Amino acid sequence: MTDLEWAALLEWYAAAGVDLGVGDHPVDRFAAQAALQQARARPVQPIAPAEAAASHAPVAPDAEASPVEAQALAAAADTLEALEAAMNGFDGSPLKQRATQLVFGDGNSEGRVMLIGEAPGREEDLQGKPFVGRSGQLLDRMLAAIGLDRTQVYIANTVPWRPPGNRTPTPAEIALCLPFLFRQITLAAPEFIVSLGGPSANTLIGQPVSITRVRGQWRRIEIAGKTYPLLPTFHPAFLLRQPAQKGLAWRDMLTLRRALDGTDIPV
Ligand code: URA
Repeated sequence: MTDLEWAALLEWYAAAGVDLGVGDHPVDRFAAQAALQQARARPVQPIAPAEAAASHAPVAPDAEASPVEAQALAAAADTLEALEAAMNGFDGSPLKQRATQLVFGDGNSEGRVMLIGEAPGREEDLQGKPFVGRSGQLLDRMLAAIGLDRTQVYIANTVPWRPPGNRTPTPAEIALCLPFLFRQITLAAPEFIVSLGGPSANTLIGQPVSITRVRGQWRRIEIAGKTYPLLPTFHPAFLLRQPAQKGLAWRDMLTLRRALDGTDIPV
């Protein structure tokens, strides 16, 4: 290609929102999926803080990095503040190298509902808070429709660092951060969990699911020996692209409202 053609191609990528070139090496997606399943299967063992500190050796920042260190750090954190500090000190995720900062959580960690999105976007990366961009504004309206706001719910993501170019996090990236998410859920101990979008539903259910099939139906998931009712629904970013689906999402919000009111008990 000529220089002019290369420049046109780069401009085209930039216009499509691709602001970083990553992935020079082929990624074995099957191995990554297996890693995600293994990470879910491995119980989170509480360990002594000294042991956790000793295991905090730098991890090569590649897609194959093991979740073992993340697990040790997560298990040693006995408050959300300690967990946030541990995640800030964790260098094993390649996502962290490219993100501006950790996007840990927002809202009321003692609220009855915990909402879990996919990954921080550009605005979230800059502000350090989940769902503060356009999707977040829609999420706030969805919550307001059933009388909730951020003083009553807790919000986090499957991965706490922004994937380059806002792409979906890979199964390996999610697997690496999963011990942190599970610990965050355990420490927040919500009464109800709402997953936003397909990747979050897949992660919490522990297998690939069709979000259009599973949305709006309560199911039970187990994390660190405790069972939580999970309600999958659409991601607000999807609703911004497909406003015709908003009716279904609003229906899901009413399902959540009934559970909160105790008028409809999740299975
Ligand atoms: N989308 C997400 O999944 N999470 C955010 O925090 C923002 C946008």
